[in-house]
Amino acid sequence: MRRWNRRKLLGMVAMGGGVAAGTALSGRSTWATGTSGSSHQLDPRILTTPPEAGAWVELDGAAIAANLRAVRAAAGGRPVMGVVKANGYGHGLVPMARILTEAGVDALMVITVDEALAIRQAGITTPVLNYGPFDRSAAEDLVLHGIDQAVYTAEAVEGMAAGARRVAARARLQVVLDTGLGRVGVPVAAAAEVLAVAAEVASHAEATITGTATALTEDPDVDRLQLQRYRQICDAARAGGIDVGAQHVASSAAVLDFPESHLDMVRPGIMLYGHYPNDRSLRERPIDLTPVLSLRAKVAYVKTLQRGETIGYHGAWTAERETTVATLPIGHSEGYPTGALMAGGVVNVRGRPCELVGGITSNHLEIRIPEGLTVRVGDVATLIAGGAVARSAALESSAGAAGAARSAREAALPTAPQVGEWTGDGVYGTLMHISPLLPRVIT
Ligand SMILES: Cc1ncc(COP(=O)(O)O)c(C=O)c1O
Repeated sequence: MRRWNRRKLLGMVAMGGGVAAGTALSGRSTWATGTSGSSHQLDPRILTTPPEAGAWVELDGAAIAANLRAVRAAAGGRPVMGVVKANGYGHGLVPMARILTEAGVDALMVITVDEALAIRQAGITTPVLNYGPFDRSAAEDLVLHGIDQAVYTAEAVEGMAAGARRVAARARLQVVLDTGLGRVGVPVAAAAEVLAVAAEVASHAEATITGTATALTEDPDVDRLQLQRYRQICDAARAGGIDVGAQHVASSAAVLDFPESHLDMVRPGIMLYGHYPNDRSLRERPIDLTPVLSLRAKVAYVKTLQRGETIGYHGAWTAERETTVATLPIGHSEGYPTGALMAGGVVNVRGRPCELVGGITSNHLEIRIPEGLTVRVGDVATLIAGGAVARSAALESSAGAAGAARSAREAALPTAPQVGEWTGDGVYGTLMHISPLLPRVIT
């Protein structure tokens, strides 16, 4: 029953009752019960206001909608398949799928059957492509829930067709071609054969080929060659009477840099979350994006150490003078990277950067409170800054001399790209490692 209530509230947040995505509701929270089904673990606790204690992820709903508009404009108004794999790039699968749907996204892409079904279980009816593999036993569910399934072998086509026969409905297939990335996809030499098998099951009303995709290497010269190979295969299939469905190849980098690749639909991820796909676009900011996610925690404890006192396992850090230290209830198991400490990372409290000290343990970390700053239990610490404030700090920084020196404001406000630079995880890794268990506050 509690599960049903949770679904109902999630439904209200964005889908129904005239309530706009991101609108504050009652401030009440709901909990995943964790009793059955792997999709449970993908659902975070959804809040409309920060919790009284602990750590949380904050999502800027208006930024998501604005990023989608900016990306669509950069793609010449084409339909957008928003990539929400990897738990919505760490933001939260269902919240991201829901807010993007409300904002008018045309389709969603995930990488597991569980993610695809979690979107459907949440009542979201937007077309979903599962780009990852599937168990044969999942084929019926995929068909019944109208999930587009990526296929790159004849066996996978047959597996989906068998599922379709069992439930007397049509499977939706998207043929993935490997044109040079070397990850997954039908190799160019075998593409005609797999497309022919898909067309054969389509002719028996067991399937529809809803799309044909490839992934680019994001190396401009290779991308051109890949697009050429992709086009040749699709053109040849069409000339042979095969409907290849929607053609899509462009992730964020290609949306910005490779207009010829926009085709029928684009397939961006990182830009919808308000970040740029590479260093050049981060520096130049060719479109206006706002980071969606902030990672925050409330100070759990404050103490004053005397000179020579230590904190952390094995006395990891020693106070050289009387020092105030605050403990935050978040650590590496929640996705805050241990590498941030070695890199001299900071957390923002009351507008000031506070140095990480001691050690980042599974659920805690400590920060040194600079002189002149008073910090109390319950104060909000920002570990990753998002929203308008992060956007404007970043704009200030890129407008600076040769874009090199970061503004004092940006240094005090750690952004996801900055944390990714400290640790070497990059912006993708930094975001995707954030724990799905943290509550999500949607503003
Ligand atoms: C197949 C595929 N398409 C699109 C994307 C989106 O990429 P980006 O986040 O760089 O836009 C990804 C992400 O890794 C992907 O795997």
